[in-house]
Amino acid sequence: MGGGRSQSIEVELSLTIMEKKRIGILTSGGDCPGLNAVLRATVRAADKLGWEVIGFCDGFEGLLPPGNYVHLDRRATAGIMHLGGTILGTVNKGHFVAKVGAGDRAMVPPEIIDGARQTFKALGLHGLITIGGDGSLTTALQLHEEGFPVVGVPKTIDNDLEATAMTFGFDSAVECVGDALDRLHTTATSHKRVMVLEVMGRHAGWIALHGGLAGGADVILIPEIPFEHEKIAAEVIRRDREGAKSTMIVVAEGASAKDGSQTRHHTASGEHRLGGIGELVAREVGERTGKEVRTCVLGHLQRGGAPTMLDRILGTRFGVKAVQMVAEGKFGSMVSYQNYLTLDVPISHAVHKLRRVSPDSQMVQTARAVEISFGD
Ligand code: F6P
Repeated sequence: MGGGRSQSIEVELSLTIMEKKRIGILTSGGDCPGLNAVLRATVRAADKLGWEVIGFCDGFEGLLPPGNYVHLDRRATAGIMHLGGTILGTVNKGHFVAKVGAGDRAMVPPEIIDGARQTFKALGLHGLITIGGDGSLTTALQLHEEGFPVVGVPKTIDNDLEATAMTFGFDSAVECVGDALDRLHTTATSHKRVMVLEVMGRHAGWIALHGGLAGGADVILIPEIPFEHEKIAAEVIRRDREGAKSTMIVVAEGASAKDGSQTRHHTASGEHRLGGIGELVAREVGERTGKEVRTCVLGHLQRGGAPTMLDRILGTRFGVKAVQMVAEGKFGSMVSYQNYLTLDVPISHAVHKLRRVSPDSQMVQTARAVEISFGD
């Protein structure tokens, strides 16, 4: 082999190395079943293009200099699709918080953005895939506005993100609610009790509505339809008279009575967390009906554990789509699921307001048609 030829091979090799794209990925906000399916799919789709993937640890915090990250390749992401949580870790507080409460936007400080830019440049990243909900996508939007090539992947069990018909994690949460109702039903029926199941969902009633419908609930209370304790009690008494052996009430953590406000826990750190409405409803129903009432708060069981098959499929589709979007330079956009297709929409369309249940929607009408009361 002549010197000239070997020299050109060397040049070619170094060009290939230089051209080898490297992208970053991170999971941010509350965890959710299906995150690992997205990571696995992203790595495989990127690998097909000859790209490397860097996984930042603990959400955006991993971008702080000097960078906290792992190399994600096929081996590192093998056998993770069925695992709940995220192998990268996540935080929903930290230095990159861009949302205060339910709606107010806060800006990530310039020095934090500069630090992230430093890490980004040092690693020679071509794009950053950020998997998150409302708050994390608001951070992603700011990074995009500051010049970072960002692609968003929507994630939340609450299913409350605008601009996408569905997010992965929601189906797993609904499955968990349905399973809990099946179990609670047998014990409630044996004891002729009223059972109140409090579920997650923040300010939207999607988990309560879908889980309640699937699990055969008799009453579903959601934030979008304020309820009256009197009406719930009347429904329990009506069912009793008809010979029903139990009444199953599903209440979303963000639901409230017409004359009440959302129930919150106040933590030592000054944080307000939704929760406690289940106990309140149980007390009011018990006092008004004289029936034995028990409460079950499903809590983080809805977020943990293996993703359903649907969430594995959605997660895989979202990961592949995100890589395509990076390849096409569709930065500032987010994967969106519409009419059974993965599409892209501007991140800004997803973060301005929450997608909530419409009280006139077909789902609510369907629930009413099968005699589910909304306590209104
Ligand atoms: O947004 C997802 C969610 O699980 C909500 O349904 C719930 O209100 C909240 O996160 C709980 O957050 P944390 O895990 O911080 O208590």
